[in-house]
Amino acid sequence: MTGQISETKIGEVRERTDIVELVSQYVSLKRSGANHMGLCPFHSEKSPSFSVNAARQFFHCFGCGVGGDVFSFLMRIEGLAFPDAVRRLADRVGIELEEKSLSPEEELQRQQRDRLFQVNDVAAEYFHQLLMEHPAGEPARRYLKERGYGRKAAGEYQLGYALDSWDDLRQHLEKKGLAAEDIRTLGLIRPSKQDRGDYDLFRGRLIFPIHDLNGRVVAFAGRVLDDTKPKYMNSPESPIYHKGKVLFGLYQARQAMRQSGEVLLVEGYFDQLALQRAGFPQVVATCGTALTVDHAHILKRYVQRAMLLFDQDAAGRQATFKAMGVLQEEGVPAMVIELPSGDDPDSFLQRQGGDAFQTRLAAARPAMDMFMDDRLAEAGDGVEFKARAAEQIVERISALSSELEQDLYLKKLAERSGIELDLLKQIRIRCQQRVAQRPVPRSVPAHRPAERYEAVPPPPEYALPEPPPELSAEPRWQQQRPRQTPAPGPMLSRIEQTLLSLLIQNLVPAESIAAAGGASLFNHPDAVAVAEQVLALAGEHPVEISVLQERLNDAQSTLVQRLIKLDKEQFAESSEHLFKDCLAAIKRDQRKQQREELLGRIRQLEQDGRYEQMKDLLEEFKNLK
Ligand code: UTP
Ligand code: MN
Repeated sequence: MTGQISETKIGEVRERTDIVELVSQYVSLKRSGANHMGLCPFHSEKSPSFSVNAARQFFHCFGCGVGGDVFSFLMRIEGLAFPDAVRRLADRVGIELEEKSLSPEEELQRQQRDRLFQVNDVAAEYFHQLLMEHPAGEPARRYLKERGYGRKAAGEYQLGYALDSWDDLRQHLEKKGLAAEDIRTLGLIRPSKQDRGDYDLFRGRLIFPIHDLNGRVVAFAGRVLDDTKPKYMNSPESPIYHKGKVLFGLYQARQAMRQSGEVLLVEGYFDQLALQRAGFPQVVATCGTALTVDHAHILKRYVQRAMLLFDQDAAGRQATFKAMGVLQEEGVPAMVIELPSGDDPDSFLQRQGGDAFQTRLAAARPAMDMFMDDRLAEAGDGVEFKARAAEQIVERISALSSELEQDLYLKKLAERSGIELDLLKQIRIRCQQRVAQRPVPRSVPAHRPAERYEAVPPPPEYALPEPPPELSAEPRWQQQRPRQTPAPGPMLSRIEQTLLSLLIQNLVPAESIAAAGGASLFNHPDAVAVAEQVLALAGEHPVEISVLQERLNDAQSTLVQRLIKLDKEQFAESSEHLFKDCLAAIKRDQRKQQREELLGRIRQLEQDGRYEQMKDLLEEFKNLK
């Protein structure tokens, strides 16, 4: 997991992976000339504009513009970080990635994690077999059936059953030679108080394995088959499980999420199952915890909006508004799907069916809208309460990234609350000032050092090149000149001055300068204006300074006077050469500027994790060099 993968290995994996074969696992491709074509998995379309080029080992969508190599394809379609994509493909083609630079400590951690995954894997398979085959699994099969699920769902989710026994799982795992310490670390067994040896955490429960994005089991949840409390038991946190970073069902839902561009966020395991069964596969559940920034960060990789389906009671609304804020921080708009009070998605679907749900989904409204209504209703007509509510609402509104959206909501708030729009705008300014004054920025970049869902590090091959040590853009003779001659405005570079004085003094023919780019060679507005005038006046004859001066404003005129005093002797004999130097320097400057601009954009894309676009720009960047 940790450690660096060498460039050579990355290259080898890329070489050995057949992009057509890889893409074919997700997209149905048809050969068309040199390319293979199919429907783009990254945006919805009716006619194929997604092409894969086997020879170049490259994919590209003419519809939405994404493109890249095998790694970028896998990263995008599976939501993986670069190293994970490399590992996955290395596995497929049988290349050993001996990862270098693991410290002994890291190596131990890696080994532990591998062992923990193995324990979970064996446990999940065991639970699953018990549910699917074992006579003792009958009560669980009956329970599942009563809730409307058969072997298919059980298989897709790898559902299981834990026998109602003191330590059945422990015995099974130990027979398989797995270490008690690892099983304990995962919380699957616990030491008993009465010296009876470790006992199983899950007993007589229906088991939901929780998968990471690689389909590996990181944790379990277990539901009783009756009304006993607690209804659900959950694996504790462990080196491979952080509930604030894992979403139940994501492994199963990710394609659907990407294709629909939305995610339905629910609270319950059975809600996830129920929606998926009813034909809404773009659904995930939080694992008995509030939505975290990490969750939002993960979701952002897949969707453009989140549809919240939390309970309608007071606690549920609290959770909804909290989730709204968290999603907002990641720039994911939140909508609310309202269900009759007392219903969760599962019970709603049971009673009213998928069509009714579809109607509710279509009627989803922005969480902010609901927040506004909720707060205002709660405040009632009392002036003070209303003012407090309005402030709270404006605070939330002012956190929206789009000004336009903010304005629209403020207007809405003015209408609904009867408070003057101008007043609300003043409150907004205060809120914005508060945000600006906070020591820590409101939207903390969601970079986490953690494991499965770490913020995607820049793929090594896209690592940003350091800008080369910039050659001085000044011709050598200028560098040696004392600084005080000539010294007009601060923005005017010495190259511009030199070039302009060559032009004004007619040391270089105006048409040469025009041919090299004319006024566009200059940056400083005064220099541009002067150059334009000189070039406009220059016919066959050298420009008369007095005629030129008439056409210039004071600043420009002063500039010309300075430049005309430039010592001709110093460079007269080599003005041709000087001119070339200037041109070269200006071109270099322009390229440098372009590079800096590009670099800025690349860094931004890198921060946003948009590696595809980044790759294109890097190509451009290379070309500029
Ligand atoms: P609910 O109590 O709403 O249960 O808890 P549910 O999802 O409707 O369960 P079913 O339909 O009766 O089977 C919602 C979620 O809260 C967590 C679980 O993630 C559950 O799905 N939870 C609930 C627990 O972790 N422990 C509990 O004891 C209860
Ligand atoms: Mn339920």
